[in-house]
Amino acid sequence: MVKGGKPLYGEVSISGAKNAVVAIIPAAILVDGVCIVENVPNIKDVQVIVTILEHMGAEVAFLDAYTLRIDCRGIQKQTEPDAMMRKMRASYYLLGALLGRFHEAKVTMPGGCNFGVRPIDQHIKGFEALGAEVRQDSDVIVASAEKLLGGNVYLDTVSVGATINIMLAAVLAEGTTTIENVAKEPHIVDLANFLNAMGANVKGAGTDVIKVKGVKKLSGGIYSIIPDQIEAGTFMVAAAATGGNVLVKNIIPKHMESISAKLIETGAKVTEYDDSIRVEGVSTYEGVQIKTQPYPGFPTDMQPQIVALLSVAKGTSLVTEGVWDNRFQYVSELHRMGANIRVDGKTAFVTGVDHLEGAPVRATDLRGGAGVVIAGLMAQGITEITELEHIDRGYENLVEKFQALGADIQRKSC
Ligand code: EPU
Repeated sequence: MVKGGKPLYGEVSISGAKNAVVAIIPAAILVDGVCIVENVPNIKDVQVIVTILEHMGAEVAFLDAYTLRIDCRGIQKQTEPDAMMRKMRASYYLLGALLGRFHEAKVTMPGGCNFGVRPIDQHIKGFEALGAEVRQDSDVIVASAEKLLGGNVYLDTVSVGATINIMLAAVLAEGTTTIENVAKEPHIVDLANFLNAMGANVKGAGTDVIKVKGVKKLSGGIYSIIPDQIEAGTFMVAAAATGGNVLVKNIIPKHMESISAKLIETGAKVTEYDDSIRVEGVSTYEGVQIKTQPYPGFPTDMQPQIVALLSVAKGTSLVTEGVWDNRFQYVSELHRMGANIRVDGKTAFVTGVDHLEGAPVRATDLRGGAGVVIAGLMAQGITEITELEHIDRGYENLVEKFQALGADIQRKSC
């Protein structure tokens, strides 16, 4: 429950990146030793992937609230239970990791947020380029190979998941794998850095081409997860949207450039420091045009949050979704709060209104949920948000962090 209208003030520290950790934990399957992973965020997706690994026989323990010790030496290749696998998108990283380790993988099609069709043809293309046979039996994918041999893959679509899965399958393969037209997101670089810290030979992460030279063994080590770009962006937008003044700490400002640039275009004041950014709100915002794109473009995972802000900006903003077929489910919730948004295909025409009104709304998905929380913080009156489980998948202590910034927000137990 949010009582809106209070500007956010103070400092917020950003947690480890969800989309990095959900790749790095399954990557530990490839390691013949102990991995110590630091700065692990306390989110539902981490609990799910840890439970899946434990069911498979891995020894996983938290050394403290944010440090995970993972030992996958005794792991079995069966992935149970199916219900868990369906809870998160990133369970498909088990395909690349198990294929790399056992040359055999059988994984139930993943869940995660529903943005229309979420194909995995590019993952399969990559596994096949390494010599694997892949078949799909209803919602189960089976991949196997006598031997994995380095190969060349050109991705027809820039895909975070395919880039990661092919890297995972290639690290222990014989020879060199070249993956072209890859995703360049910070979590791709983080995964490559993790693998290299464990003894892999991965080059080019963060550019369009990644080369993976297969090694015989990964032997363990210590690695710290990068800060979450999208959590940081969510607090930056919330600070602006409430007309507040917030220092967003423990981040990599370079990762925030596209978000900072758009906030500055709307009129917000953004000041960058070495590992933090201050956002100061203003009384009126300018409408802007945005197209979401793979990194370094404006992230699709920030689309609902910025639309919440633009719903009270001057004029009509055009927000085009350039990654997913259907990522506007949350718009119907903003309508309940008085927003004037028309969606036509992949573009939302957001005409600024004087103010939003509190209303009962749903978190339709993870980032859509963050968008309605921001709308609730901006709105006059009370907003009740249900289906918080979507938000809990990817934000650590969102309610508590907003409370610490002065928001009037509570989690009601049902
Ligand atoms: N695509 C294909 N074929 C494939 C794979 C993807 O056509 O084989 C298409 C998709 O349909 C989509 C586009 O390529 O249109 C990009 O998909 P991508 O594979 O990059 O997405 P993903 O790996 O499934 C990750 C994040 C998402 C984020 C996207 C885009 C994780 C666990 N998930 O998904 O994060 O939106 O990249 O940046 O890393 C979130 O955190 O809220 C979230 C949804």
